[in-house]
Amino acid sequence: MSLRNRLLKLLDDGDFHSGETLGEALGISRMAVWKHIKALRTTGVPLEIARGKGYRLQNALELLDRNSILAAVAAPTRDRLGGVEVCLVVDSTNNRLREQVHSGLSSGTVCLAEMQHAGRGRRGRRWVSPFGANLYLSLLWRSPVGVAALGGLSLVSGIALMRSLRSFGVTGVGLKWPNDIMASGAKLGGILIDVLGESTGPCVAIIGVGINVAMPQTAGTTIEQPWTDLLTLTGRRRLSRNRLAALLLDELLPLLAAFETDGMQPYLEEWKRYDMVDGQAVELHLPGRIIAGMACGIDAGGALLVDTGDGPRRFASGEVTLRPTA
Ligand code: BTN
Repeated sequence: MSLRNRLLKLLDDGDFHSGETLGEALGISRMAVWKHIKALRTTGVPLEIARGKGYRLQNALELLDRNSILAAVAAPTRDRLGGVEVCLVVDSTNNRLREQVHSGLSSGTVCLAEMQHAGRGRRGRRWVSPFGANLYLSLLWRSPVGVAALGGLSLVSGIALMRSLRSFGVTGVGLKWPNDIMASGAKLGGILIDVLGESTGPCVAIIGVGINVAMPQTAGTTIEQPWTDLLTLTGRRRLSRNRLAALLLDELLPLLAAFETDGMQPYLEEWKRYDMVDGQAVELHLPGRIIAGMACGIDAGGALLVDTGDGPRRFASGEVTLRPTA
């Protein structure tokens, strides 16, 4: 564990610690502690400094911890996992895995971060990713089938996320095609998949999951759409992101393996239960045009079906919004 990680671990109880006690615990001088605190604050870590008291981590959440995640996952998940890396600050966990694909990372490698300074959402949007507040997790998946056969991958990943939220005790959430996690009309989380490789040969998918857990209001005001977080939805005061990450991996890894052999078909019924737009008047935003119609589920490949008046038409991409009722 890096020195800065160890320093944050000492501070993650939310209490004040003096430079002297921190220095002693880490085997460094008070001045060196001060320099590390300053550097962490510059990257956006919410550290408070109080004269005569020392330093403390504001809104202390349990920090992400590789060992806690590994201890919490089910045994079969542990066998399917590649490496698990927990970073303090990255540009994007998807980018971090992407940069290392050619160094031979094994399938099932996971990267999590406390903060992303260039978190990416779908359609080129940014994903607001403040320190220690939410879950930012990416999983690298090597698939022998080509990009062309991965049509339903993002939907199946959404199903895994719904299952893990249910095990975490979250109710009242649903999916907006293809994989927005929604609650009461507000966005709780999303999935961004980067695929590298041939359309028919082996490929690599990087599945990036973002879930708002305890979004600070200050960061939330910069989000350009209605949003919610798990603290609000559950009414709890503290939630374990390590447990949530473990539950997500427990669902995602076996589902990916099954999807690779069986495709989307076995999940169509389950998708229907989570589908928040089925039977609703929608607009589908495509580059340069908007399609209006009634959403009528998905086809066996995971494409959205929209009835525009002359029967269902299938769409493999686009952004769905609900049409305001008159
Ligand atoms: C969306 O727009 O709904 C997708 C959001 C995906 C965000 C996650 S956070 C972890 C991973 N790293 C990123 O940069 N993006 C994804």
